[in-house]
Amino acid sequence: RKRAISPAEVLARKGGEPLVSLTAYTTPMARIVDRHADIILVGDSLGMVVHGLPSTLGVTLEMMILHGQAVRRGCERALLVVDMPFGSYEEGPEQAFRNAARVMAETGCAAVKLEGGVSMAETIAFLTARGIPVQAHVGLLPQAVNVVGGYKVQGRGAAAERVLADAKAVTEAGAFSVVLEKVTEPLARRITEEIAIPTIGIGASPACDGQVLVLDDMLGLFEDFRPSFVRRYAELAGAVDAAVAGYAAEVRARAFPAAEHVFPD
Ligand code: KIV
Ligand code: NA
Repeated sequence: RKRAISPAEVLARKGGEPLVSLTAYTTPMARIVDRHADIILVGDSLGMVVHGLPSTLGVTLEMMILHGQAVRRGCERALLVVDMPFGSYEEGPEQAFRNAARVMAETGCAAVKLEGGVSMAETIAFLTARGIPVQAHVGLLPQAVNVVGGYKVQGRGAAAERVLADAKAVTEAGAFSVVLEKVTEPLARRITEEIAIPTIGIGASPACDGQVLVLDDMLGLFEDFRPSFVRRYAELAGAVDAAVAGYAAEVRARAFPAAEHVFPD
């Protein structure tokens, strides 16, 4: 393994060249992302984009560990971060430490990510004090969809102060970076200016210290819905559809396999 980027190096990139982050869930995709990204996130978005679940709430620790192990095998240079799934950390610092330590030991990741600001600050401080680097996640919290009532833009009007307080709380608690998800552009810009750790935006602002996207979204592989904050850098679902259709047609016409695909005596 080449020397990987460390959480401390990510922290030191505050205000510098933008940090490039993407999710990955499998070894071959991790190998490709690792050539270009600073941070690879094994996101619990895998519940929706890989496993067909309706939200991230059904994702288990076992699923995160299995995909974390797969991604670890394809990740050499990037910092590997694994999401803590719903129910694995919210009870308190001890539960969070026990499960995060298991994720780190069994996947070889260098950091974990968990959702929450002020409410998770004590847990983030507990983990970082005991050797577990934490990437925080504030703004839209997909694991709280049932409380919030949808995947809405966060931090409009008076709510901005709450999101800012969340970002400040995770900074104070020792997080080495923070994902800002679906917060208004001026608020993401303001948070980036006011806190001392890198902000990684998704549906946030180009002023953030870095950006992250769900790989399957930006590749045009996940078609169930299309968040307006995603730019599609490819249309792979269409390419896969055309390939499968071509194969099906050739099998039915006995045009595949051809002479070069079969073995002489
Ligand atoms: O699960 C995920 O993919 C994430 C990113 C969207 C930040 O948390
Ligand atoms: Na996530």
